Amino acid sequence: MKVIAINGSPRKNWNTAIMLQSALEGAKADGAETELINLYDYEYKGCVSCLSCKRKGSQANGLCAYKDALTTILEKCKEADALILGAPIYFGDVTGMMRSFLERFLFPSLCYQVDPATGALKTLAAKKPIGFIYTMNAPNEWGETAYGPMCYQIEGSLAAIYGCTVKSLKVYNTCQVKNYADYDMDYFDAEAKHKYRDEHFEEDKQKAFELGKNILN
Ligand SMILES: Cc1cc2nc3c(=O)[nH]c(=O)nc-3n(C[C@H](O)[C@H](O)[C@H](O)COP(=O)(O)O)c2cc1C
Repeated sequence: MKVIAINGSPRKNWNTAIMLQSALEGAKADGAETELINLYDYEYKGCVSCLSCKRKGSQANGLCAYKDALTTILEKCKEADALILGAPIYFGDVTGMMRSFLERFLFPSLCYQVDPATGALKTLAAKKPIGFIYTMNAPNEWGETAYGPMCYQIEGSLAAIYGCTVKSLKVYNTCQVKNYADYDMDYFDAEAKHKYRDEHFEEDKQKAFELGKNILN
């Protein structure tokens, strides 16, 4: 079984990446083969609305017809047994690279046709377990209220198209930098940030590990 993690952060060694690596360790502990893909290594666009995937007689079969560096990643995602997506919150949403990935990952499998059996829109995607790890500056108290609806929207689309309940984890109050003294960031209480990280980061990593360990179950 293959589990792929998709890192929607530009940073390969900080909050989101660390959580995704831990999730993949969990998947490995469950016997899966794993791979981590860093979206920022690739040049690609979001959906260009060519609608090739919706044309009558289309051979796209749930894969985005627009060809660029994301094509091989989307093919790998189709083959994978499970996916764990991860992104920091940028201005109240997941990063632009993650959004562009999601457009290309979701739209080709969404049919604008109602399935008479369920009354819902048809999907071309095979069922697949999906996890989503969000990391953010926001503390728990308002992270959930401020970003909950956005996460709910993303997870709803993933669930509807990939026939799963998304296993999600929100990692709050992250340290955006290692050393706040090097930056003009007085808004943040550096000491409190580091204290929170010391007290919660390992616990969050463990939750990510468990998410990965259970993703196929
Ligand atoms: C351009 C930019 C915008 C951000 N916007 C938000 C935001 O709206 N809300 C928030 O809680 N954190 C915001 N952050 C902080 C990141 O979400 C947070 O530090 C995250 O854990 C970084 O993940 P990384 O270490 O994997 O890059 C922003 C960071 C950047 C660089």
